[in-house]
Amino acid sequence: PFPKQVRLVEVGARDGLQNEPNPVATETKLELIDRLGAAGVNYIEAASFVSPKWVPQMGDAREVMTGIQRREGITYAALTPNLKGLEGALETGVQEVAVFGAASESFTKKNINCTIAESLERFAPVIEKARDAGIPVRGYVSTVLGCPYEGDIAPEKVAEVSKTLFEMGCYEISLGDTIGVGTPLKAKRMLEVVSRDIPIDKLAAHFHDTYGQALANLYAVLEEGISIIDSSVAGLGGCPYAKGASGNVASEDVVYLLHGLGIQTGIDLQKLAETGHWITQSIQRPNRSKVGTALMTK
Ligand code: HMG
Ligand code: MG
Repeated sequence: PFPKQVRLVEVGARDGLQNEPNPVATETKLELIDRLGAAGVNYIEAASFVSPKWVPQMGDAREVMTGIQRREGITYAALTPNLKGLEGALETGVQEVAVFGAASESFTKKNINCTIAESLERFAPVIEKARDAGIPVRGYVSTVLGCPYEGDIAPEKVAEVSKTLFEMGCYEISLGDTIGVGTPLKAKRMLEVVSRDIPIDKLAAHFHDTYGQALANLYAVLEEGISIIDSSVAGLGGCPYAKGASGNVASEDVVYLLHGLGIQTGIDLQKLAETGHWITQSIQRPNRSKVGTALMTK
């Protein structure tokens, strides 16, 4: 049976913009965050406290986090891969943070420059310090349905990393199909293994849409009881230098699917579509939401 309600985690301002090669003004990011809030999104991943040498686009994390006109009832979160990141985030009054690991050694090395074991060692003090500050920590696991360097990833490996992060104190684990290669049966099988260790209501689906499978995969995991979905307005994201790469599943498409299934989100789809239209015009990117495009050309 489908869940009655789904919580959307909007990652457009972070995942959606982090690979954007042209600088996006802090003001534009802040307006995006504000518009998303006005559309009824209640969880917004707003920034990433990572090395600006690695991800220049997130270099204004502090300005973004302190510039937000906070709305009641909305959680504004940030990524914090290490203590330096967490300390920066805490200074801005962040409400939640996230650490990010992966089920693939090669991807972990490329993304955060260490082994899986080292990454978990690094996250331990981050989780501890966040807990002392009363800040919940989300845990990401990337490459759950495939890795750009290693290909197939065993569900058991995904389960192992997820379980470790969960036991270390992450309140929720977001399962990332980082390169969007998954298909529905594969997604179900992976989830079946991971949910042996972690309650399904503590798992989120974070699917990129590179191969156009994200909505189908989401439908498959909704059937298994997933009730937290990460998505990006207008399907923002993806590396413009990697041929064919694309961003997260589009929030508008997810909301349309969910509402069609009678599942509540609390989101105003029209306002969300307008936000997707506005941001893609602002940064001159195509709108990768089919629903958003349809609604805006009606
Ligand atoms: P490193 O080079 O191994 O770390 O980077 P280091 O500790 O040796 O530090 C090197 C330099 O970075 C130093 O500066 C540090 O101060 C600085 P220098 O002395 O050379 O001038 N530094 C920092 N600066 C600002 N904020 C920090 C920070 N930490 C160190 N927090 C590190 C390790 C993790 C920092 C680096 O690899 C990094 O920043 N990686 C970024 C990875 C990233 O942002 N990836 C994208 C997000 S993950 C994702 O998109 C997947 C997800 O969406 C799920 C999915 O789709 O699967 C979540
Ligand atoms: Mg992602």
